Amino acid sequence: MNHQQYFDANRDAWNKKTFVHKNSSFYDIVSFKADKTSLNEIELKELGSVNGKTLLHLQCHFGMDTLSWAREGAIVTGIDFSEEAIKTAEELREELNIPAEFICCNVYDTSQYINQQFDIVFTSYGVIGWLPELDAWAKVIAESLKVGGIFYMVEFHPVVWMLDEDFQYIKYYYHNESVVEDEQTGSYADRYADIHYKEYGWNHSIGEVLNSLIKHGLMILHFNEFNFSCYNCFNNLVQGEDGYWRVKGLENKIPMMYSLKATKKIE
Ligand SMILES: C[S@@+](CC[C@H](N)C(=O)[O-])C[C@H]1O[C@@H](n2cnc3c(N)ncnc32)[C@H](O)[C@@H]1O
Repeated sequence: MNHQQYFDANRDAWNKKTFVHKNSSFYDIVSFKADKTSLNEIELKELGSVNGKTLLHLQCHFGMDTLSWAREGAIVTGIDFSEEAIKTAEELREELNIPAEFICCNVYDTSQYINQQFDIVFTSYGVIGWLPELDAWAKVIAESLKVGGIFYMVEFHPVVWMLDEDFQYIKYYYHNESVVEDEQTGSYADRYADIHYKEYGWNHSIGEVLNSLIKHGLMILHFNEFNFSCYNCFNNLVQGEDGYWRVKGLENKIPMMYSLKATKKIE
């Protein structure tokens, strides 16, 4: 299969998942509509004030986080390649009357759709694993940022993606050695949902992430690793008193997420 065929299959899968996600308790759209932010303390704290800043959200899914940043005062644009996700994001925007622009495109094609540079580029939780390579991704980030602008990401750790679905043994490569093909039913937001699809992912080592950004002129300001997940989105997780989720039997032994802040030094 070529990259376009992988993207087409993944887009179909995300269209199916969006139908399930928007009605799931996992995404809790009811609380979101009642003004609860969908953002976590980590990104809120680490990114800091976004008030009055232009913010581009890459792979925004159906826009809850994008619209939450708008509620924090940012002037937001969200992009995602799932037509259903963007349609749902636009419906939410209209219903809640929150200013936001949403664009349906492949993240690799962002610069063809957006002729603007932003103060902030943001992406989070479950994004780069859908991308076969990071060089063109980092180029898009650099092209989308103003000089002095901030790129912020918070993402699941590649160590998590090395392990089998129940966290019992090492099943996959740490490095981006090959595509991982997966036949799935349900979704992380509703394991019993009546949807079936094939999807294709890639694991990206920390070195690959950092070097792709450095190569395109970004200077790393911080890189943090967390031994927990903000979300109960994997099998066998237990919730700690701090509210965060860890693998049962492996509590605090493995990294589960990382966050990264970088700035663009030169055009
Ligand atoms: C796990 S979700 C994003 C997580 C987000 N924090 C959330 O839960 O709302 C991943 C998103 O990436 C999008 N996506 C996957 N591959 C993409 C690509 N090549 N270009 C643009 N969007 C892509 C999917 O459509 C999906 O909406």
